[in-house]
Amino acid sequence: MTENDDDEILLRMATEADLEAVVAIERASFQEPPWSWRSFASLLDDPYARFKVACDARAGIVTGYIVTWIIVEDAEIANLAVAPDWRARGVGGRLLDAAVAEAVTSGVRRLHLEVRESNRAAQLLYGSRGFVAVGRRKNYYRSQLRTHSFSAAL
Ligand SMILES: CC(C)(COP(=O)(O)OP(=O)(O)OC[C@H]1O[C@@H](n2cnc3c(N)ncnc32)[C@H](O)[C@@H]1OP(=O)(O)O)[C@@H](O)C(=O)NCCC(=O)NCCS
Repeated sequence: MTENDDDEILLRMATEADLEAVVAIERASFQEPPWSWRSFASLLDDPYARFKVACDARAGIVTGYIVTWIIVEDAEIANLAVAPDWRARGVGGRLLDAAVAEAVTSGVRRLHLEVRESNRAAQLLYGSRGFVAVGRRKNYYRSQLRTHSFSAAL
């Protein structure tokens, strides 16, 4: 990633106007039942949810999003995706860094997440940000998928 790329990634809280783009990215990113427009819409006024989008300053489009649940000292990265054409340009890393920074500001001590065992890109991303694998689960997402549980102390 160049310094220039970094400058072009804008992060902000999601609004209703972003939902169409977010749902399109969600559908392009996940096979297991993707979150619906209504699921994302419900986050907009949920006091425990932090829902951010990344936008490309030049193209003026939403390129990714992250959803974090914050409950007192614990938080979970519940969803993170970057549009396929915008991957490997630093967007996912910026979203994760912003979510971690917000969690720290909110007094969170530990961040958790689940990632599919086969999802190497996501595991590398989380590993690059200090998350460590703490266990494995089966049948996550109500499917036969195996996942790794990752955790980071803040
Ligand atoms: C996982 C995902 C969010 C990563 O987003 P991204 O914008 O491509 O990631 P970045 O470009 O910010 O990469 C950040 C770090 O992650 C790692 N990484 C990400 N994708 C990688 C890949 N395909 N191969 C190797 N490393 C990768 C690298 O360590 C990278 O560090 P670097 O900046 O030093 O190279 C994106 O691939 C995605 O949306 N995948 C589909 C949805 C998904 O799996 N979400 C996570 C669910 S747990």
